[in-house]
Amino acid sequence: MHWNNAVRKTHRWTSLTFVGTVIVAFVAAAQTEPAEWLFYLPLPPLALLLLTGLYLFVLPYARRRRGGQRATCGG
Ligand code: HEM
Repeated sequence: MHWNNAVRKTHRWTSLTFVGTVIVAFVAAAQTEPAEWLFYLPLPPLALLLLTGLYLFVLPYARRRRGGQRATCGG
């Protein structure tokens, strides 16, 4: 269970990092000559969110397949 919590925590904190980089990109867009690389800044955290998010999505189904406790809601 420790591993699952670590992935959830990573997803949660990466989401804040992602929001920060999006704000930076918006501020950059408001400049007259913005540095282009700033617009790519959200991509690494978004990639991490995608991977950890897909893991979190599959989690309840994988748990059910192994005959563990049922998910409390949905599905
Ligand atoms: C990129 C694709 C993403 C996928 C596939 C994804 C998927 C998921 C899944 C499956 C959960 C767990 C839901 C549950 O257990 O009920 C989750 C939780 C969450 N997601 Fe995402 N997500 C993605 C991107 C994002 C983004 C862009 C943000 C915000 C900027 C975000 C913020 C969160 C937060 C705050 C939670 C709750 C974490 C917690 O339980 O502490 N996610 N996501």
